[in-house]
Amino acid sequence: MNEAPIGMFDSGVGGLTVMRAVMRRLPWESIIYFGDNARGPYGPRDIQEIRRFALEIAAFLESLGVKIIVVACNSATSAALLDIQRKSAVPVLGVVEPGARGAVQATRNRRIGVIGTRATVRSGAYRRAIHALDAGAHVHSRACPTLVDFVERGEVDGPRVEEEVRRYLNPLKKRGVDTLVLGCTHYPLLREVIGRVMGEGVMLISSDQEVAREVEENLSRRGYLREPGVSPFYRFMCSGDPEQAVSLGRIFLGPEVERVERIELPLGGCRP
Ligand code: DGL
Repeated sequence: MNEAPIGMFDSGVGGLTVMRAVMRRLPWESIIYFGDNARGPYGPRDIQEIRRFALEIAAFLESLGVKIIVVACNSATSAALLDIQRKSAVPVLGVVEPGARGAVQATRNRRIGVIGTRATVRSGAYRRAIHALDAGAHVHSRACPTLVDFVERGEVDGPRVEEEVRRYLNPLKKRGVDTLVLGCTHYPLLREVIGRVMGEGVMLISSDQEVAREVEENLSRRGYLREPGVSPFYRFMCSGDPEQAVSLGRIFLGPEVERVERIELPLGGCRP
């Protein structure tokens, strides 16, 4: 058993969809969440820059004594997972590989669609992860940069968002994908409209569920799971506006986001 919390981070509040899935699957685990909302969204940023931010946050979480780090952001995972793993003393999981595995296991025609931010799609991380599991799978990727803005405005359904989703997804439908990876933390909130646009025959794979499963396996095999019955704690931190983090956080996670602490950047060596 290991009483230490799980550390998770994202460019903002999006990773809370991953945290929600981990909380549901592992209700006794404590979690520290860091949202880099002063510098997010990461999607339009340069890969080197995202890597620098992600390494800084992972080192900060490690300094707080977490037992495992979950990079709960597709853009940060795509840009920096391997670098963080090399530098960390604790295990580090990303969101790309679990999503890729879920898609490879679900597809019947081996035609997989991937949607994400510009940074995620440009990095080719999903394509590599899918091909590492099935070299013969056909991967069709599409960056959908405006969808993050829709979700952050709270517009998760209705004609405007549906039209935008249709514009992005029609080319993937034409390719005959039978499985679509929601390769961005914000897209689980658009699941309904994406499902409607893609149609019933297309399986939607959302990294949040896959990651929660992966976190459980990792902690369980290492003997790191906490005893059931002992209440966990949740601690939320951000680099930018805490009020905005609370109001958006409630949409992404729920009423558990009562208070968010603001941590000054740069984080290096800081131990609050
Ligand atoms: N969390 C990001 C991701 O999953 C989406 C928001 C952003 O662009 O930073 O890629």
